[in-house]
Amino acid sequence: MPINFDKETKRWLLETENMGYVFGLDDDQGKIKNLYWGSKLPRVQDYPEVKDLILMDRYTWNDEFSVRGEKNNLEHCLKVEYSDGVRDVVLNYKSFEVSGNDLVIRLSDDHYNLSVNLFYKVIEKYDIIERWVEIENNSNEEIKIEDMKSASLYVENDEKAKLNYLTGMWGSEFHLRREEINEGSKVLESRVGKTSAYLNPFFAIDYSADEDRGKVYFGELAWSGNWKIVVQKRIYERIAIIGGINDWDFSYILEPSEKITTPKFMFGFSDEGFTKASQNIHHYQLDYILPKDKAHKLRKVLYNSWEATTFNVNEENQKILAEKAAKIGVELFVIDDGWFGKRNDDHAGLGDWYVNKEKFPDGLQPLISYVKTLGMDFGIWVEPEMVNPNSELYRKHPDWVISFPNRPKSLQRNQLMLNLAREDVKKFIVDFMDNLLTQNDIDFVKWDMNRHVFESGWMQVEPRKQREIWVKYVWNLYDIWKYLREKHPHVTFENCSSGGGRVDIGLMQYADQVWTSDNTDPFDRLEIQEGFSYAYAPKIMMGWVTDWGGKDTYPLTYRFHSSMMGSLGIGADLNKFSERDFDLARYQVQFYKEIREIVQEGYQFRLSYVTNDRYFAVEYLSKNKDEGVLIYLRNPRRFGLFDRVDVKLKGLENDAVYTVYEGLQGEEKEMIKLSGKALKERGIIIEDSSKDFFETGKVTHFYSRILRLRKSD
Ligand code: GLA
Repeated sequence: MPINFDKETKRWLLETENMGYVFGLDDDQGKIKNLYWGSKLPRVQDYPEVKDLILMDRYTWNDEFSVRGEKNNLEHCLKVEYSDGVRDVVLNYKSFEVSGNDLVIRLSDDHYNLSVNLFYKVIEKYDIIERWVEIENNSNEEIKIEDMKSASLYVENDEKAKLNYLTGMWGSEFHLRREEINEGSKVLESRVGKTSAYLNPFFAIDYSADEDRGKVYFGELAWSGNWKIVVQKRIYERIAIIGGINDWDFSYILEPSEKITTPKFMFGFSDEGFTKASQNIHHYQLDYILPKDKAHKLRKVLYNSWEATTFNVNEENQKILAEKAAKIGVELFVIDDGWFGKRNDDHAGLGDWYVNKEKFPDGLQPLISYVKTLGMDFGIWVEPEMVNPNSELYRKHPDWVISFPNRPKSLQRNQLMLNLAREDVKKFIVDFMDNLLTQNDIDFVKWDMNRHVFESGWMQVEPRKQREIWVKYVWNLYDIWKYLREKHPHVTFENCSSGGGRVDIGLMQYADQVWTSDNTDPFDRLEIQEGFSYAYAPKIMMGWVTDWGGKDTYPLTYRFHSSMMGSLGIGADLNKFSERDFDLARYQVQFYKEIREIVQEGYQFRLSYVTNDRYFAVEYLSKNKDEGVLIYLRNPRRFGLFDRVDVKLKGLENDAVYTVYEGLQGEEKEMIKLSGKALKERGIIIEDSSKDFFETGKVTHFYSRILRLRKSD
């Protein structure tokens, strides 16, 4: 039983395979107190009780759901103003209900008839719990909510505690940072109306853990708008983590009888270091977050023509690229920006979602049919949330954009944002997307979003409701995606926001994959991909082989190998490919198709750190762990002239014997046969640059290899 209530001590015990999470009722106060989060303990009696807490007279800490009220000294999950001006919430326990892996704890502020239900879903296999909250106004008065986060969590206070998080910017997303947690509050957040590349709604706290050992506590928020995760430490109490929708510039008028639900905050625990934490996150996303219909289907190898033709798309040049893409084994051809309105550069056209007749005189269908006769699926780019001032849509509906009167309407990439919180805007997007997908045989949509929200005005509603824009926008966005998926179930959706600017498990509930970064430099990408791997599954991560950094800067093989760490795409200008390039690309695509199930559905192990090590190596094991793939890329910034690299593998059975080989099935070159233990302890020699040097007089900067392994019978 994953959820138990211990009547005697009034504790709720939530247990997964390896994790225990416990809270209890403080009977005297009627409050729910968090008691424990960590390794699963053998007996119920082993977990702390309310009486074991240090109860302070000065202030309150350890509340399972922290509110602004009474003596609470913690960042809050809930802050309201009642109609009489009272701003103090007094929340007491009422009842609970368990049903399988789900638990609800009912709390209430009786005097004001505000009920707060805490929801828990226990995901035993991945040592993860999801939490969210429903807030209901049962009174006859409005209640103004000023903060409504999803959960407060607590971890051990130890000076070894370190916070890991992901930061970056456009073209440089998902850089992992690790820092000591000191007294005070560390705020991770977004204030730009989307998840943002600046910080990602993911945290991990460890106590000197490494990839294979040590405790790691982690969490992710399912929210694609303004979010906030605060890590708060006082000198003695457990470190608190509070997460949910950002309270900055936020308020929501909860009408009588209205109910509001916060986003999910998932959290989990690993006592076997970061690898186990990441693997559990990856498989949780595949099994519980991604849309079910396609979650376990293999992602197709796609070609996207953006970097080849940018805005200059037309029927003829896309057909030429499509032919070439088909020649190398691509399965999905995607036409990017430029096919609609008067879109010849990024100054005009957004909002005018009809086919540009100069570029496609007979509409899109001739191109689509051609792509299909070549045996590929067809995909298309859209950016529905945006409008250029130079567009028919803006001339018709200037009031649809997010803005304040008497203030500038600041442009970003020459565009403004449509206010998706408005029902008419929502309808406009639903209708044009529906038409596009109904009238054309489209299998794939890349949904882009290329700016931030600034000057966040919504003047058409009463001032007291204007700040609801931040949540209503996101709810409507989710509704649209949900509707489109249900109406067009065969369509695969890619979520893009200037690269990886809106990557989170909120939108991932509706999107099958994400565009990771506009930076497609195969070396830069390694750090981005490494950071990504801590929080998101390889299958979701699109990597394209392109000409970034110059076509000949990196060998084509290196570019392919770098992109094969997730789901593979190609964005290079195929018109510049030589026959040799085509042969090589054909080989690599075929090779990827052979290994993709292991990469997309298997277990990932980080074998090195790209910033510190001489090489970057990632291993993947199939679900049954009988087969594996090792992707190895040299780090030229660290590599020595006479280096020899022995890569030590992970996750193998000690006594089993594995054949390590290279190449396509049927043409394989066996390298060595060793026991799992030997592969883990001795490793395999991947390269020896001295040989290279003595034979050729130089060292290749960008050397890479992919090895495969198979367990022998
Ligand atoms: C954004 C995306 C790119 C591409 C362009 C098109 O920058 O991240 O992949 O689609 O827009 O304008």
